[in-house]
Amino acid sequence: MTRRFLFVLGSARPDGNTELLARRAAEQLPPDVEQRWIDLTAHPLPDFEDLRHDTDHVRPTEGDPALLLDATLAATDVVIASPLYWYSVSAQTKRYLDHWSGWLRTPGLDFHAAMAGRTLWGVTALAHPEPEVADPLAGLLNNSAAYLGMRFGGVLLGNGSKPGDVLKDTEALGRAKTFFAREAPLARFPYEAG
Ligand SMILES: Cc1cc2nc3c(=O)[nH]c(=O)nc-3n(C[C@H](O)[C@H](O)[C@H](O)COP(=O)(O)O)c2cc1C
Repeated sequence: MTRRFLFVLGSARPDGNTELLARRAAEQLPPDVEQRWIDLTAHPLPDFEDLRHDTDHVRPTEGDPALLLDATLAATDVVIASPLYWYSVSAQTKRYLDHWSGWLRTPGLDFHAAMAGRTLWGVTALAHPEPEVADPLAGLLNNSAAYLGMRFGGVLLGNGSKPGDVLKDTEALGRAKTFFAREAPLARFPYEAG
């Protein structure tokens, strides 16, 4: 089966460290793996509205919500490429994940069954020198994958503050070379750091 990677870019600036690191990792994917890159700033989702207990969610048919839903459903692998903001994902990324909650409750979509068995990955850049401070982001992604019955490939971390800094993080660039080749086991609760 052809693998299709969807890279969801969640930085609030273009050409940032997270994207640079994700692109380094993606360079190593075999040529028969399809790649699609979507920048959430270029394709902003509306604020998520929680309709769970009022009315049915309706499948979006146009605009950025439809683009992101269709791209997500088409992907065998979803890569959340978000900078570390306040020890977690960026607001753009969080909003995208909040929309998953609506998609889970959209009649006829069966988002849960569609996503089960697929793989979630994380790529993040952070300014802080200790990687452990990104544990909340890793936990968020692991637990979300577990909730959906997905596999979780872990988080590729790189260090940097201004754009381009991550290219000086030689350890991160080394990890990027093999990141997508690693085993991605079924995600399990609870997240165990380290
Ligand atoms: C709103 C905001 C929050 C941030 N919060 C953190 C943080 O909690 N921990 C950290 O180490 N770096 C933090 N940073 C620094 C960024 O993670 C760092 O600059 C990173 O390289 C940005 O990724 P990008 O270049 O892909 O945009 C924050 C930056 C911004 C703008």
